[in-house]
Amino acid sequence: LHIVHATAEMAPIAKVGGLGDVVTGLARACITRGHKVDVMLPFYECIQRQHINNLVLISTYASYFNGDWIPTNAYRGEVSGISVIFIEPSNHFFKGQSVYGGSYNELEAYLFFSRACLEWMQVTGTRPDFIHVHEWQTGALPLLYWDMYQDLSLKKPRIVLTIHNMEHYGECSQEQLSKCGLDGSVYATEDKAVDDRTIGHNPERLSLLKGGIVYSNAVVTVSPTYLKETLCSGWLASTLLRNRDKYSGILNGIDSAMWNPATDVFLPAKFDAENFQGKNVCKRFVQRGLGLALEGTSSGSDRVPLVVCVTRLVAQKGLHLLTHAIHRVDELGGQMVVLGRAPDGRVEREFENLANLYNQGSSIRILLMYSEELSHMLYAAADMVLVPSMYEPCGLAQMIGMRYGAIPVVRKTGGLADTVFDIDEGSQPELANGFVFEGIDQGSLNWALDRAFSYYREKPNEWATTLQKVMKVDNSWNKTAGQYIDLYNTLRVKW
Ligand code: ADP
Ligand code: GLC
Repeated sequence: LHIVHATAEMAPIAKVGGLGDVVTGLARACITRGHKVDVMLPFYECIQRQHINNLVLISTYASYFNGDWIPTNAYRGEVSGISVIFIEPSNHFFKGQSVYGGSYNELEAYLFFSRACLEWMQVTGTRPDFIHVHEWQTGALPLLYWDMYQDLSLKKPRIVLTIHNMEHYGECSQEQLSKCGLDGSVYATEDKAVDDRTIGHNPERLSLLKGGIVYSNAVVTVSPTYLKETLCSGWLASTLLRNRDKYSGILNGIDSAMWNPATDVFLPAKFDAENFQGKNVCKRFVQRGLGLALEGTSSGSDRVPLVVCVTRLVAQKGLHLLTHAIHRVDELGGQMVVLGRAPDGRVEREFENLANLYNQGSSIRILLMYSEELSHMLYAAADMVLVPSMYEPCGLAQMIGMRYGAIPVVRKTGGLADTVFDIDEGSQPELANGFVFEGIDQGSLNWALDRAFSYYREKPNEWATTLQKVMKVDNSWNKTAGQYIDLYNTLRVKW
């Protein structure tokens, strides 16, 4: 099969969260299984070219936007062994210090990108079997395809949409949509079309994500539990129910090469499930580096667990619980490091205040930045990884944490419910691998965190056995990439 991903993120060169990890991990898993994969990515100005191998300009063409044909370059390069086609328009789109948040209009830039991907396939005669789009950013691509690129080839590509987070729906007006050349007929305001493409019943308020659902051949979301949640509630539930026959849930995996404590170049010492002495070295390294107290030879209630939370600081991630956890860990005599970046100024100030309050001491560090390198070190140093999300379509932090020998403490929602099973709950002891709570109040979080602390301090042998067990859990794409390939194959036969 030949699969082309059209995406706004790709790890590690253009990563903001899990979307970037998933594109790279899934692409690599498909390549390993003998398929051909290209990733199409905006050539963000912030991408560091030294991370791209064999970068060459492969085509110069023009793509339509808002009445003009924008001269555009396409480059091909290799990132982590994956072929990437970088789309670089000559206008101001995708310029800035970070992947998102440049001074251009994001919606318009991604509408342009969606068309520019199809235009590139058209001018170069590229005929993939599948175009795999992600999130609202490339949600217009299926619409554009059906509206104007059906003649792309005799071998029609099927379009698969993966939705990583339903909260971001690409709200768009008819006028904005028309800028990428859609004549709007696919967004006709008559009969059921209104309900199928609009937000609410206002024909002027369209959603690129919703359009993507309607016009893709298959729609996937990133865990079975999130699939159920999205069919039961949320503004897209009725659209998803209407499209139920093509909607499925496939659990994400993690890239086992990128996230491997036995080979990780960012770690001061390597380790694996059979020999995890190196993990202690990593813990001490992080404690020393961040000025946290060193544990000495403590035992029992003096043992100091290190809790880590690596996250985007947004409401989804349970910010009130995260803030509470910082207080609670301090109160319990543990240590905690939060590595997070807040896209919202108000949240950033709130966490800056917390950092000012706590970072002077020797038990809590709040680091307001994005750092791939530090994230690897923190997962390796952690005894526990905390994910207190309000909702979590899949969540990779808990999976990465487990691979690095950190026991997860999570709220039971979405993909967290599919990957973490409570140690004290007892119904499936063979799966038990963490501590789970359900409520959204502080008491619920305390209940899980306190149990994790007691387990760590009072049952060191059981802790070591569990640690070994979680490191062996296979949360990699080896387990679930096959489901995507089955889906591609089913679609091919169905056509
Ligand atoms: P989401 O995609 O909602 O942010 P996931 O758990 O699926 O959540 O994936 C988050 C990914 O981003 C993980 O690889 C995590 O380690 C990484 N990440 C999040 N925040 C940071 C940060 N501040 N620095 C480095 N990596 C981060
Ligand atoms: C989104 C979700 C997260 C998921 C990630 C990758 O950002 O918030 O739960 O793991 O996408 O699919």
